[in-house]
Amino acid sequence: MSEDTQHKTPTIELRHVEKHFGDLHVLKDVSLQVEKGEVLVLIGPSGSGKSTLCRTINRLETIDSGEILIEGKPLPQEGKELAAMRAEIGMVFQQFNLFAHKTILENVTMGPVEVLHVDKKKAEQEAMELLRRVGVAEQASKVPAQLSGGQQQRVAIARSLAMHPKAMLFDEPTSALDPEMINEVLDVMVELAREGMTMVVVTHEMNFARRVADRVEFMADGQILEEGDPNEFFDHPKTERAREFLESIKGH
Ligand SMILES: Nc1ncnc2c1ncn2[C@@H]1O[C@H](COP(=O)(O)OP(=O)(O)OP(=O)(O)O)[C@@H](O)[C@H]1O
Ligand SMILES: [Mg+2]
Repeated sequence: MSEDTQHKTPTIELRHVEKHFGDLHVLKDVSLQVEKGEVLVLIGPSGSGKSTLCRTINRLETIDSGEILIEGKPLPQEGKELAAMRAEIGMVFQQFNLFAHKTILENVTMGPVEVLHVDKKKAEQEAMELLRRVGVAEQASKVPAQLSGGQQQRVAIARSLAMHPKAMLFDEPTSALDPEMINEVLDVMVELAREGMTMVVVTHEMNFARRVADRVEFMADGQILEEGDPNEFFDHPKTERAREFLESIKGH
């Protein structure tokens, strides 16, 4: 059987996911699949549930019903298994969330040493390689506050990669950055995508989405309203809601 006729298990799969915050119905029957090596861009108006969706994937948020599967396996509810699974999905947020009192190198080696029990020397070697790869190796002995936002966000990416994740989730990773720093972070993400990383990216950076996304999902009011090829979506959105939204973010 040829490779593409074989059934492949998606790296991430959501089936009919429902979530409420009190009276607010924030995820409404959300189903999606992310195949291995695929880059999915999630786009939509503020408050539509994009961050919540990302957070449910590594169970920073619980769901009311439906299923979330990582490589075909349901998300564990709690305990050791959940911690292990969380380590398999990297997450990069709008705010960099680096440990302020640790050096850049320590920020990157902490996870491997404490969670994966990697030997410290080995973890440091790998951390330096990753920091080199994202272009901040010379900052290794500084603390986060001594770095620019763009540099900190690249450290956050290196820190996630150090855990050898099966997939990476990016929630508006460039929206807190000064404009001149956006591209240095996007370039690292483009490179990751080229290397075959499975990625879910919440972003309004349309040029990035056109270049890198295999698929775009448009979310509004807790629902996925459109799904498709990025150029097709940006040039010919099917729903009025998407047309309005794209009009509102023009110039990004
Ligand atoms: N912990 C929470 N408790 C209650 N309501 C919440 C919580 N987190 C998010 N919400 C609400 O859920 C809805 C979806 O929020 P979410 O952050 O997922 O949207 P988003 O699409 O990421 O928006 P943005 O583009 O502004 O980041 C919003 O109305 C938000 O106010
Ligand atoms: Mg958000």
